[in-house]
Amino acid sequence: MESKIAELKAAAADSIKAAADLKELDNLRVKFLGKKGEVTNLLRGMSQLSAEERPKIGKIVNEARADIENLIAAKNSELKAKALQNKLASEKIDVTLAGRKFQRGHLHPLTLTLNRIKEIFIQMGYSIEEGPEVETDYYNFEALNLPKNHPARDTQDSFYITEEILLRTQTSPVQARTMQKHKDNAPIRMISPGRVYRRDDFDSSHSPAFTQVEGLVIDKGITFGSLIGTLDFFCKQMFGESTKIRLRPSFFPFVEPGVEVDVSCPICHGNGGGCKVCHDSGWLEILGAGEVHPKVLEMSGYDSSKVSGFAWGCGVERIAMIKYGIDDLRYFFENDMRFLNQF
Ligand code: PHE
Repeated sequence: MESKIAELKAAAADSIKAAADLKELDNLRVKFLGKKGEVTNLLRGMSQLSAEERPKIGKIVNEARADIENLIAAKNSELKAKALQNKLASEKIDVTLAGRKFQRGHLHPLTLTLNRIKEIFIQMGYSIEEGPEVETDYYNFEALNLPKNHPARDTQDSFYITEEILLRTQTSPVQARTMQKHKDNAPIRMISPGRVYRRDDFDSSHSPAFTQVEGLVIDKGITFGSLIGTLDFFCKQMFGESTKIRLRPSFFPFVEPGVEVDVSCPICHGNGGGCKVCHDSGWLEILGAGEVHPKVLEMSGYDSSKVSGFAWGCGVERIAMIKYGIDDLRYFFENDMRFLNQF
């Protein structure tokens, strides 16, 4: 009996020592100390022993039981400590690692250009007016002194929706809309940015949809000098203090006299040398302008003997191309991040 106990103790000690995890250890506890465990079995066999042997063997079995319990308790803390170590090692955070940068969005170059144009005119007290992109023939042409069958309509090949409704070809209809919104002869200082549409091919300098800004000033005593002063100020603010403007006579049915305005090339400053932007001409055409035609004033309720005005209109893509030295208009619409990330 004594040797049996010693054997059992040794077997228990070996398997407890070899236990790899807490679950295995618990199985061993059940195997040796549980209700149907091996130590319990030994105790049951005691009934067959003689009265003298019983207390002696009982003591040995109880000691063996206590030893096995202690071994299990010790192994239990050892395995728990090991499990904690493993957990800590696997969840380790390297606080010295460099952080990942957030990708931030930014404004499109056209929006940046338009924002700058707005800033320049808002500081001069202009308001911002908007008009619909789906426009009537009346506002897009007739109210601007372009009656039906006027040959100048051909220069703005249009997308018609019905005979009387089209996608606006210019922002000039906002001139007539703003005049009609105001009281007769009330002064106006406004710009009107927005999308316009023409039946043009998509190439390096044309797009069937593009952006324009219109300017309109009406008041007593507005002269051609007011127009020149305003555009000169605008161009200097937009392209730099040394910028010069040049006027060439031109024709738009809604102004008289009409001009086309060039700016000195802000990229080569007229020095040429293979300039990609002005092709060494030193000048870049940027807008159409003129004094508001008396007929246009009268049609929208203004008395041309009391007030006068000037108007101008330009392409925002064109301004952005000149400002940033971009040689192809298509970049604005392709959304290639290699292009956009440069702004
Ligand atoms: N609307 C004209 C165009 O699109 C530009 C312009 C506006 C010219 C105002 C004169 C006055 O070509």
